[in-house]
Amino acid sequence: MRLCIVFITSFLTGVHFQDCARRAKLYKRKPTSNNKFISIDQHPFIVGLLKTFEFALQFRCAAVIIHKKWAITTARCMASDEPSLIYRYWRVRGNTSRYEGYTDAYSDHRISSVYIHHNYVGENNSYDYDVALIKVHQLFIGLHEKPICFATGFYKYMNNSSLTLLIWKEKNINTYTSAKGELESFDVQLYNFQQCRKLYRSFGFAIPSRKLCALRLSNTECTSGWGGPLIRRGILIGLSSMGLECSADHIPWTYTKLSEFNEWILTTVYDLTIVETK
Ligand SMILES: *[C@@H]1O[C@H](CO)[C@@H](O)[C@H](O)[C@H]1NC(C)=O
Ligand SMILES: *[C@@H]1O[C@H](CO)[C@@H](O)[C@H](O)[C@H]1NC(C)=O
Ligand SMILES: *[C@@H]1O[C@H](CO)[C@@H](O)[C@H](O)[C@H]1NC(C)=O
Ligand SMILES: *[C@@H]1O[C@H](CO)[C@@H](O)[C@H](O)[C@H]1NC(C)=O
Repeated sequence: MRLCIVFITSFLTGVHFQDCARRAKLYKRKPTSNNKFISIDQHPFIVGLLKTFEFALQFRCAAVIIHKKWAITTARCMASDEPSLIYRYWRVRGNTSRYEGYTDAYSDHRISSVYIHHNYVGENNSYDYDVALIKVHQLFIGLHEKPICFATGFYKYMNNSSLTLLIWKEKNINTYTSAKGELESFDVQLYNFQQCRKLYRSFGFAIPSRKLCALRLSNTECTSGWGGPLIRRGILIGLSSMGLECSADHIPWTYTKLSEFNEWILTTVYDLTIVETK
């Protein structure tokens, strides 16, 4: 059964994810993009999750487009509100480098289904299985809304490799008035996993094997940003998940390891084994 699923999903991946593979090849890292505001046209896969109120917006997390109808983010993010409120008030905002205001040509998508990984239990196990999929009503077909390829089970992690982390930098901390934010990029470095685990163990956390660790290369201000994509050469390898207080600059942050969730993502997206419960 498992083999069969792998076969079917690799066939579907071939068909539906071709475009992202082509774009991954074209994707070029900017020479030095540290702590710089960047534009959506170079990173058309990132979107923002916003809770909309009548006269205000509240920023919740980042998410990443992986398919015309689907975005991926952390379970933490999607477990942070009631499902009924998510379906009613949350929007996936794409096609924009800034999520405030009404001058930008952003494109909002209502959420039709949310799938939080069934093994996710929250903080008790250091946010293991911190992954969720979001299906949207309106397709991601804006000029700057394109899926990214994610790391497969065969992905090779290289020690100390240079990565890019994208986040939505909030510019208005009072989230109950209208939120403002801009897309920002950071250079980070993959961190030895065993060392990372050891470090966290000394603070009382057990980091599960379904995580990656990466360290910011410069002393930047604290920004965590759940769901922010960790990218290497145009491939999505991680999603910003958990870390220690911001003052701990030398401590790596942990990310959901995408290559551990291929089968779950593909079976959910293509509805091969699961039954929709909504
Ligand atoms: C987390 O652990 C505490 C203490 O062991 C327990 O009381 C609680 O029910 C657990 N929560 C979940 C969601 O498993
Ligand atoms: C997306 O943004 C571009 C400008 O950056 C705009 O031309 C376009 O109309 C927007 N909307 C869609 C759906 O592409
Ligand atoms: C990465 O580093 C660890 C420990 O330093 C080592 O065991 C492992 O072989 C290295 N991996 C690669 C691909 O160099
Ligand atoms: C990775 O970086 C660490 C810390 O800077 C260093 O000790 C280690 O030798 C590096 N490993 C490789 C394979 O470059």
